Amino acid sequence: MANESQMPSAAVYQAAANRYDAMEYRLCGRSGLRLPRLSLGLWHNFGSVDDFGKATAMVCRAFDRGITHFDLANNYGPEPGTAEENFGRILSAQLAGHRDEMIISTKAGHRMWPGPYGDGCSRKSLMSSLDQSLRRMRLDYVDIFYSHRYDADTPLEETACALADIVRSGKALYIGISKYPAPEARRMYALLESLGTPCLIHQDRYSMLVRKPEQGVLEAVQEQGVGFIAFSPLAQGLLTDKYLNGVPEGSRAAGPSVFLKRDDITPGLQARLRRLNAVASDYGCSLSQLALRWVMDAPAVTSVIVGASSVAQIDSNLEVLSVPPLSAGQRAELASVLEA
Ligand SMILES: NC(=O)c1ccc[n+]([C@@H]2O[C@H](COP(=O)([O-])OP(=O)(O)OC[C@H]3O[C@@H](n4cnc5c(N)ncnc54)[C@H](OP(=O)(O)O)[C@@H]3O)[C@@H](O)[C@H]2O)c1
Repeated sequence: MANESQMPSAAVYQAAANRYDAMEYRLCGRSGLRLPRLSLGLWHNFGSVDDFGKATAMVCRAFDRGITHFDLANNYGPEPGTAEENFGRILSAQLAGHRDEMIISTKAGHRMWPGPYGDGCSRKSLMSSLDQSLRRMRLDYVDIFYSHRYDADTPLEETACALADIVRSGKALYIGISKYPAPEARRMYALLESLGTPCLIHQDRYSMLVRKPEQGVLEAVQEQGVGFIAFSPLAQGLLTDKYLNGVPEGSRAAGPSVFLKRDDITPGLQARLRRLNAVASDYGCSLSQLALRWVMDAPAVTSVIVGASSVAQIDSNLEVLSVPPLSAGQRAELASVLEA
């Protein structure tokens, strides 16, 4: 494990007394659970290949600034599973006394272990995976357990029953679904409701560059009283100023991630980002702040899950809380820039 020496020791870390002063919290759908407007995701930068000291500092800094929600999945790493392991170590060493102040989520549904049960949303896969996640994170329960994707090979009824039973077992407090198309999401909401464990939250990719949830999902969550949490609100870093003129070393696109590659940064995309950056300058904020404000202000959005590779990025992203909401006129102007 890299740079173990950089991690704050248990004796050193004390949560900031003013940690709840600046963050806003919003009720999640029709539930009584409040989520911070910004949550922290551990998809990248928290695995066994990453700097554990930095990972620890980012989790502690987020908590110190009112980010109570940490989003994980069984397969986050790399190696898969190691983000949960590292998070479990950070929790037990630094945040053990704060478990009741935290909302921890994990997910199952993508390929995680060999053979027919390490993938998908069957009862067998979901239940086995959650048990593994709890062991890795050294937890008795997670706050939110997600079906990570729609699995066309498993009847929705089977997935819904497994999720409801997981809540009844006490291993998760709430249920979420991720990346379900709108029609299947609506069926899932109805099934979970009928089982007495309503769907708390729908997680989907949503940003100024990826607007698919506008084709049905945002309408469905609003109608059904389900919360919505946007992932990759910065489009993995594209909606910051870092790619305006190239691909900087140390960025996600310059690294080994298969989800954002150097070749994705095309001249056409850069021209689009520069247009958005000019709008951000006109509004007196940075492109990343504009991107976060745009998602947070959209109807139905409870929280946005940002990723980070440094404490400074977390601090910079939190500055969005002091950027005023976009006016109707600004949203309309942006809509025409985004559709151009
Ligand atoms: N349900 C799902 O299937 C699913 C899928 C994907 C993600 N998620 C969740 O969503 C979370 C966030 O996803 P994401 O990491 O793609 O989110 P993102 O917020 O769109 O991108 C985060 C990346 O952008 C860069 N960045 C962030 N803030 C910056 C700033 N202020 N200035 C410059 N660069 C900045 C950093 O990358 P570099 O510094 O490395 O360039 C950072 O790792 C994940 O951790 C996960 O919890 C869920």
